[in-house]
Amino acid sequence: MQRVFSGIQPSGIPTLGNYLGAIRNWVPMQNGDNSLFCVVDLHAITVWQDPKELSRQTREMAAALIACGLDPERCILFVQSHVHAHHRLAWIFTCVARMGWLNRMTQFKDKAGKDRENVSTGLFVYPNLMAADILAYHATQVPVGDDQRQHIELANDIAQKFNHDYGEEFFPNITPLIQGVAARVMSLRDGTKKMSKSDPSDQSRINLTDDADTVALKIRRAKTDPEPLPSELRGLEARPEARNLVGILAAMTDTTPDAVLAEHGGKGFGAFKETLAEALVAKLSPIQGEMRRLLDDPAAVDASLRRGAEKAAAIADPIVTRAEALVGF
Ligand code: ADP
Ligand code: NA
Repeated sequence: MQRVFSGIQPSGIPTLGNYLGAIRNWVPMQNGDNSLFCVVDLHAITVWQDPKELSRQTREMAAALIACGLDPERCILFVQSHVHAHHRLAWIFTCVARMGWLNRMTQFKDKAGKDRENVSTGLFVYPNLMAADILAYHATQVPVGDDQRQHIELANDIAQKFNHDYGEEFFPNITPLIQGVAARVMSLRDGTKKMSKSDPSDQSRINLTDDADTVALKIRRAKTDPEPLPSELRGLEARPEARNLVGILAAMTDTTPDAVLAEHGGKGFGAFKETLAEALVAKLSPIQGEMRRLLDDPAAVDASLRRGAEKAAAIADPIVTRAEALVGF
């Protein structure tokens, strides 16, 4: 049995990066109770969230996941704070993980920036909670974007140290599943930073809910260089912005960057950007229609999340209870 787990923060509207790097890859992994997908509200509050907005954003994120193809009847879709096993195991892991390990996390350094003294302690121990999210289900397959690779390595270090310290091969090894040409979608403003829904300083991101005009405008404004597109991949080597746009079009049209360049090599960005905007709108508009339909009946979305939480707890509770017994509780 290979159990799949992944999560997404309700810290804003899902972006194209979330869609291509994560959500889209979750859909074919649905496998009943062996596939869990979680809206991770505990992670979201590592950065202050407006309490009035958080529950709405959580429901909207769930609706977006369903609209993208997750089916609550074919997987377990739930909200992290509804299943207490996550908090219980996270505390144990916070006592297993070492300061030095967390100090090496590049995402913390990126997110904390220069303001290290004023970020929440939760932001620092975030990877411990992420390890608990996965290991509370003994999940081994974790489809994530490339930005999460280091956190999965840390989760494996925690699992190994727990097994060593408490004398039993209790937690399994986790494999990150990092897929495809768009495992890291970059910002449209700066090709060296990732596109993120939770970066308030960068509004260039494409949101799954953007209408056709907004998508076209954001793509037109996307940073590029003056050269036409090359006809081969190696021509993109020192051109991160161009490489990003080519990768996005390849992913949106289910082809490869090579094929995109074979078709568009030699063209300027004006024409290319029009094609890209059209491809994005064609993919996003049916998702948006489905999201609107789902959010017309918020109680139904909430009820389905409650059922998901019951199914999740039925798996996690005995595992975490056993971990607590190993610790001596
Ligand atoms: P964000 O940084 O947008 O708030 P989350 O931390 O909620 O995203 O991550 C949700 C999932 O989306 C994770 O699997 C993460 O790896 C993936 N992801 C986030 N940003 C990107 C990106 N720019 N490109 C590819 N995948 C991404
Ligand atoms: Na993130």
